Amino acid sequence: MNASFEPGRDFAVALDRGDPLGRFRDEFHIPRSETGEEEIYFAGNSLGLLPKRTRRYVDAELEKWSRLAVKAHFSGENPWMPYHELLAEPMARLVGGSPTEVVTMNSLTVNLHLMMASFYRPTRERHRILLEDRAFPSDDYALESQARFHGLDPTEALLRVQPADVARVLEREGPSIALVLLPGVQYYSGQAFDIEAITQLAHAKGCIVGFDLAHAAGNLVLRLHDWNVDFAVWCTYKYLNSGPGSVGGCFVHERHGMRQDLPRLAGWWGHDKESRFRMEPGFQPIPGAEGWQLSNPPILSLAAIRASLDVFMEAGGMQPLREKSLRLTGYLDWLLQREISASVEILTPKNPGQRGCQLSFRIKSSVPGRTVLEKLEASGVTCDWREPDVIRVAPVPLYNRFDEVHRFVEILKKAL
Ligand SMILES: Cc1ncc(COP(=O)(O)O)c(C=O)c1O
Repeated sequence: MNASFEPGRDFAVALDRGDPLGRFRDEFHIPRSETGEEEIYFAGNSLGLLPKRTRRYVDAELEKWSRLAVKAHFSGENPWMPYHELLAEPMARLVGGSPTEVVTMNSLTVNLHLMMASFYRPTRERHRILLEDRAFPSDDYALESQARFHGLDPTEALLRVQPADVARVLEREGPSIALVLLPGVQYYSGQAFDIEAITQLAHAKGCIVGFDLAHAAGNLVLRLHDWNVDFAVWCTYKYLNSGPGSVGGCFVHERHGMRQDLPRLAGWWGHDKESRFRMEPGFQPIPGAEGWQLSNPPILSLAAIRASLDVFMEAGGMQPLREKSLRLTGYLDWLLQREISASVEILTPKNPGQRGCQLSFRIKSSVPGRTVLEKLEASGVTCDWREPDVIRVAPVPLYNRFDEVHRFVEILKKAL
């Protein structure tokens, strides 16, 4: 090891020792390499780790299924009929909404379509959708298909803009924009958008504003209700540690959620709870976000989300996690600059207020980026690669340590 690097390691170990959230690492299964050592897992922005308690929560539902079968919908501990309601309070706390504004259902892209069925109502004057130039492909496809669905030409209806141009384009094109759909945190660059300011600006121009919070939920402190966001959608398998393909989240601001007259795509799980099982025609939406549910939800997946949300609540919610995250990612940034600034170009904003825990960087070394990634993986690091030459790393405050950040930079330095 490089001698000049040694004090950094002591510093990292001391930070871990003084970390009040450090004990939460033991709540997770940390993947191990073939030699049995714990990996440096910096891919929580892609798939969060498995909380140890998840097995117990899922097993409890399997046990009910075996013992009670269909009766478990209405009897036993935590009956399945209202099971999703158990998630409303903690999920609402994580995104800054009230429990009636938040529902856990479907998956992100499905929820995006459901939201657009209600909130993208193009007219002759106001029909365009403002999105970012490098939107996550699923969002891009969803928005394009919505434009086509309404008989519009996507090349004209979709306004793809650079993040830096959002305010200017809103100012200039506002009256023709029906919907603004942006990410909370950009998946590729890790840039955090100013949700409150964008919402204010877009509302001043008469637009509806929705956010894709795939990379923001469980990463940033969010106040969706106070920021007046119209709707938001997110997945739970990244920072919310609920397992591959798990059920997503959806926020509908109460000023819309309490309206019964909004057009929507309906299903029986969104129908008035009192009369649902009378099985009669005539859809009456449940007031709030629950009224957008379609189907009875997958309980095993909801059980896994509940387990993860309980860990978040025990950690004190997003505020303390964000405080640690700022220090953890700040430390990573500082080490990258100090040790290898000539070999990496950090694409994520420098300002901690404009990013979450993820840093994305381009490899500038004579060693090809792919080779660097392979060397990282061979040394027990799991991170994420994006074509053509970008590595994304996300030290997650719930289970990553300062010492891992230090070891990561040391390994990266060698690989370069
Ligand atoms: C930013 C973003 N939006 C949308 C999606 C699509 O999510 P889903 O497959 O759950 O619909 C993802 C998935 O990784 C994502 O990262």
